[in-house]
Amino acid sequence: MKTVVTTAYRPTSSILEWANRVSADLSLPQVPRNKRSIDRMHTDEGSDLLVCLKERLEFYPMGEGEPFFFHPNSAAFRTKRPLEQDPLIEVSGLEPGDSFLDCTLGLASDSLVASQRVGKQGRVLGCESHPVLAYVIQQGLKEYKGMPHLEEAMKRIRVVSSDAVSFLGKLETNSVDVIYMDPMFTEEITEASNFTPLRGTADHGQLTECWVAQAKRVARKTIVLKAHFRSQDFEGFGFTRRLRPNTKFHYGVIQCSAVT
Ligand SMILES: C[S@@+](CC[C@H](N)C(=O)[O-])C[C@H]1O[C@@H](n2cnc3c(N)ncnc32)[C@H](O)[C@@H]1O
Repeated sequence: MKTVVTTAYRPTSSILEWANRVSADLSLPQVPRNKRSIDRMHTDEGSDLLVCLKERLEFYPMGEGEPFFFHPNSAAFRTKRPLEQDPLIEVSGLEPGDSFLDCTLGLASDSLVASQRVGKQGRVLGCESHPVLAYVIQQGLKEYKGMPHLEEAMKRIRVVSSDAVSFLGKLETNSVDVIYMDPMFTEEITEASNFTPLRGTADHGQLTECWVAQAKRVARKTIVLKAHFRSQDFEGFGFTRRLRPNTKFHYGVIQCSAVT
């Protein structure tokens, strides 16, 4: 599905300038809003819409009336609890100063928790294969002001607009401490979340032998998979499943032996 860039209903000159920049950054066409509703624009343009507002970017996939935009989501409360007790931190063994590669950035909530954990001396890379989503998250991480305790952690995350498997292929052997994968669930999820507007448009690709093999080559400490509790990928790809009673998703871990 193609995407066009547009503006708020009544754009100011600075919003128009911003839309020009977004359109150039993503090499996407820009169309005037002309006071049209989102629904009307979807019909007229036959495209997903990336809308520049005064304070944020909103993405409306075709047929979606609710926008997707950057927000810290679960990271907001997870980072207020002791980080070493967060399930992702616990299973991954992520330590201050470590490097963390999130292969499936999505809303960047997990990356934010990891970034808070690794701190100033650490490094966080987040790969997202949907280029518009990657851009919305990159801009959000740069500009979001609502949560001062997370600002540094947000700025530390380097967004990589790429498929994770090709990106892993470019990395040196044993060069990242923890590699994380959280592909889209194949099971139907009924609850709404901030990800709901993206369910139809995000990359639904699943784990492959090649993906896991590349992760094993690059990871020094652990590889962590998050998946639905019914997923067979844990056993299928050699992850040790950490059971989490009464939760819809589990984590699985592969321990690597590269740490000296
Ligand atoms: C379930 S979401 C991840 C949510 C994320 N853990 C968070 O905290 O918000 C999966 C995301 O990974 C992206 N994705 C799926 N396969 C990918 C791949 N091979 N490379 C990069 N991104 C991928 C999807 O487009 C989607 O945005």
